Amino acid sequence: MEFKDLISHCKEYGFVYPSSEIYDGLSAVYDYGPYGVELKNNIKSYWWKSMVQMHENIVGLDAAIFMHPKTWKASGHVDAFNDPLIDNKDSKKRYRADQLIEGYIEKIEQKIEKDVEKARSRFGESFDRDHFVHTNERIIERQKEIDAIQNRLAQSLKNGDMEGLKAIIDECGIACQESGSRNWTEVRQFNLMFNTQLGNIAGEEGKLYLRPETAQGIFVNFLNVQKSTRQKIPFGIAQIGKAFRNEIVARQFIFRMREFEQMEMQFFVRPGTEMEWYHYWKEHRLKWHHALGTDTRKLRFHDHINLAHYANAAVDIEFEFPFGFRELEGIHSRTDFDLSEHQKLSGKKMQYFDPELNESYTPYVVETSIGCDRMFLATVSNALREETVPDADGNESQRVVMTLPPALAPVKVAILPLLKNKEELTKAAGEIFNNLKSSMMCQYDEKDAIGRRYRRQDAIGTPYCITIDFETLENHTVTIRNRDTLLQERVKISDIKSNLADKVSIDRLFD
Ligand code: GAP
Repeated sequence: MEFKDLISHCKEYGFVYPSSEIYDGLSAVYDYGPYGVELKNNIKSYWWKSMVQMHENIVGLDAAIFMHPKTWKASGHVDAFNDPLIDNKDSKKRYRADQLIEGYIEKIEQKIEKDVEKARSRFGESFDRDHFVHTNERIIERQKEIDAIQNRLAQSLKNGDMEGLKAIIDECGIACQESGSRNWTEVRQFNLMFNTQLGNIAGEEGKLYLRPETAQGIFVNFLNVQKSTRQKIPFGIAQIGKAFRNEIVARQFIFRMREFEQMEMQFFVRPGTEMEWYHYWKEHRLKWHHALGTDTRKLRFHDHINLAHYANAAVDIEFEFPFGFRELEGIHSRTDFDLSEHQKLSGKKMQYFDPELNESYTPYVVETSIGCDRMFLATVSNALREETVPDADGNESQRVVMTLPPALAPVKVAILPLLKNKEELTKAAGEIFNNLKSSMMCQYDEKDAIGRRYRRQDAIGTPYCITIDFETLENHTVTIRNRDTLLQERVKISDIKSNLADKVSIDRLFD
């Protein structure tokens, strides 16, 4: 399914709407509809359970969005949370210079892939991809060009060298996608933090920022939490909350938003043990994704070669979105940078007394950080498909289905009386609905033919449909239709809850 069809599906079926759409929307801001909010809550619940409930040494926090402005000075966001911005003078379109260059690299990669595919069809079964890409001269040249550009890009970003970025754009002859022109402005730094004013205090003194990451709320509360919960190192603090970034280019639907939600966990460890924990969290987080049944080929690690100044190791878990592999989650070994900087600027000790070592130190931190909205997009794009299935008459028909893991599905079970104008059927269905609704999210639907109702439930990812038919009235049984196998099983009404509760539970993901 194409990406634009996924976006339309999300809107049509009440998952995601453009924000304030009646005023033509607000760029890169979205609202979650009735099914979207259920799916998002289930994702958050799965994350929270797996991080907090399943780890006795991880506790939760819900820090405020507004923080003392010095927080962002200490964290480095005031001075260095910038993206390189460039405008095309003809189209007046704004771009991120690094993304323009990455786009150019992607085009070369696509050319390589084209050559590989051509060779594959020429050589058939005997084709050895590795051998081909390492021996074909044209591919070797292309790969050299990619490596050279990537190196220059990384160096320029690391040194904040805006002229270096401009030089790459000029030398590669990168053109604006809209105007086709190469008439660019200089590249300049653009700070991504939104700011506002505190109360009636004017000027710099009252300047407040909307947090660009939830992590700093955890750092500044590190000792509060440690003291009140008496946690011993190693221990973690987890938080889910909104973050805000004034992204220069925010396309690709909910992949890059200006207001989004993060699920972050900071794990405080003894200095010197951070790499051990970094590897632990790397594997643990990948398992979390695999437990959802996601195609393992769609997930991969991408190590950061050029590290941020505060990190001594960093990796992304990338997912293959409809527009290619992109960052879904980051795992970062952040050293003692944040705690030390807060200690310096606040003058307050941010140290931990380790009773086993009988000494105080500033803990090192390993962070796991995933965007909830990105996880939502990954989940939907992994699950949404169009397929041909046999219908009730044995003919073939098309359906759009979301094969969401039942634990994440917005509606777990639909309750469908076969006919809406037979009171015996609707009454029995109503009773089943009332009996189940406290255990799982149910939906009662009596409108339209049963086949159309099944299709509506398929489109929102409901894993089970219960149909109440005439046999129900005779022997107190119903059919339960499985969304994926399309099989219908006859089950006693008294057994419905026990039959379904386990199958749709989040606990299932921890098996
Ligand atoms: N505390 C570390 C941190 O914020 P990051 O790589 O900038 O690291 C972490 O962000 C995660 O937040 C990303 O992996 C991504 O899933 C999500 N994220 C970042 N910017 C986003 C945006 N503009 N829209 C949606 N999600 C975003």
